[in-house]
Amino acid sequence: MNILVIGGAGYIGSHVAREFLDNGHRVTAFDNLSSGTRENLFKDEEFIYGDILDYSTLLRAMGNGFDALIHLAAAKAAGESMLKPEKYSRQNISGTVNILNAALEAGVKNIVFSSSAAVYGEPQYLPIDEKHPTNPENYYGFTKLEIERLLSWYEKLKGVRFAALRYFNAAGYDVKGRIAGLEQNPANLLPIIMEVAAGLRRELRIFGDDYDTRDGTCIRDYVHVSDLAAGHVAALDYIRENAASIVLNLGSENGVSVKEMLEIARRVTGKPIPARIDGRRAGDPAKLTASSQYAREVLGWQARYSDAETLIETTWKAYHK
Ligand code: UFG
Repeated sequence: MNILVIGGAGYIGSHVAREFLDNGHRVTAFDNLSSGTRENLFKDEEFIYGDILDYSTLLRAMGNGFDALIHLAAAKAAGESMLKPEKYSRQNISGTVNILNAALEAGVKNIVFSSSAAVYGEPQYLPIDEKHPTNPENYYGFTKLEIERLLSWYEKLKGVRFAALRYFNAAGYDVKGRIAGLEQNPANLLPIIMEVAAGLRRELRIFGDDYDTRDGTCIRDYVHVSDLAAGHVAALDYIRENAASIVLNLGSENGVSVKEMLEIARRVTGKPIPARIDGRRAGDPAKLTASSQYAREVLGWQARYSDAETLIETTWKAYHK
């Protein structure tokens, strides 16, 4: 197939592009390089420099006879979204409206959208399955949910077929070490731990150790980006073969605490990784874990690389250089 990966130079987008290439597809990455980097582009893919807010460039890019598009272009810092909702409205919601309209104009009807577990908000029960109520706690999660709703309307009105993949905590790097671009100013736990291990940052601040969890620190469901990437390929096959849309979770179903992640990182890297306990971060639920049963049933998808050791080993390879 001929696939357009919007946001293809980004951290997750580059892994998704690699997975489609590895599966024998033709891939074009479209990216404005605001958070993505040229380092994440591959020799065997095309690249179009462009912004999803620039409709004419998007429409021109879309005109290359694509069978499907994968949409991962978004601002993703939940904390920032509470301070700058206008940025998130524009980039995430308006940007997606442009993509959908350009896709319709160009006749691209298969869309895989990178959604987020942030659509659920504070968990009412665990593990979280797709029937869990959606009640985002931050504006970022709200934008992801709104886009899912837009997709549903475009499905009803225009026959678009989509897969919305609700990622839990994306982490790790390509197991074959082919992706080298590091995220700038990361806000997520694992890249911060790696920056401390690599001497780029003084210490890890652990946001709260008084949660009602086994060691007092928050528990999350970390899922390897290569597993996420495989989920995109499987989801696209599914919506094409079944002429149906799907919304599903992608998570490892494994809960790892902040302290556990830190301890494993110390062991894997052999670095002391200084850390201190800080106050709680606003909006952090104590525990989040996914049920990925639905993805297993409909896609035959299962996380393969999402154990904490593999997440840390593959990330450390990228940071160690
Ligand atoms: N944490 C620290 N110190 C840090 C950074 C994080 O203690 O410097 C803790 C957080 O408090 C949290 C855990 O590490 O308990 C994970 O935090 P992240 O910021 O890495 O990830 P979040 O769980 O907050 O959110 C991530 C993505 C969201 C997505 C969500 C889905 O950033 O976009 O997973 O589960 F919606």
